[in-house]
Amino acid sequence: MPHKPYVIDEMISAKAIAARVEALAKEITRAFGGTDKLVVVGLLRGSFVFIADLVREIDLPVEVDFLEASSYGNAMESSREVRILKDLRGEISGRDVLVVEDIVDTGFTLSHVVRLLKSREPRRLEVCALLDKPSRREVDIRATWTGFEIPDEFVVGYGIDFAQRNRNLPHIGKVRFTEPEAGEPA
Ligand code: PRP
Ligand code: MN
Ligand code: MG
Repeated sequence: MPHKPYVIDEMISAKAIAARVEALAKEITRAFGGTDKLVVVGLLRGSFVFIADLVREIDLPVEVDFLEASSYGNAMESSREVRILKDLRGEISGRDVLVVEDIVDTGFTLSHVVRLLKSREPRRLEVCALLDKPSRREVDIRATWTGFEIPDEFVVGYGIDFAQRNRNLPHIGKVRFTEPEAGEPA
């Protein structure tokens, strides 16, 4: 289903993201200091850019794994039904685990994934989310570390999509629908 035409206004620059990622990685490195191995779990697809930058700044022995969860599909509204499309490759029982997510919106995705992973009894499980939209929360969940709190805007870029587009934008931008021309159907 095609969407109305829109433009993207920059909200968080690539430079600001890089500085924040470096600071988050320092906090994570300190918090998990002494670990034999940190299993960093990226939630596909949205977190693929963030996790790539984040792990390169974490100064610990790291293993990278992915779990694919989807609730939005091509819609702008959460379906509130989280589907696990691809599970982890590795075991996390007894391990130190960091879940990496691009954005926490209603909270359905993160709470579903955290519940699932905790049932596998990791030694410790924390969450790092780049963006948080607290005003939209429907499920009581918080990331351990958050990059930026943002207002209720539909954002894209740095891994985040609108109907699978704009993931490759190097910064975070907000979607602004452009007015249809006079006489054109909206
Ligand atoms: C998006 C985003 C988060 C989730 C946040 O994923 O990447 O995973 O929604 O929304 P929530 O807090 O309301 O659950 P999406 O379902 O669009 O899949 P994607 O990561 O493949 O784009
Ligand atoms: Mn996602
Ligand atoms: Mg999406």
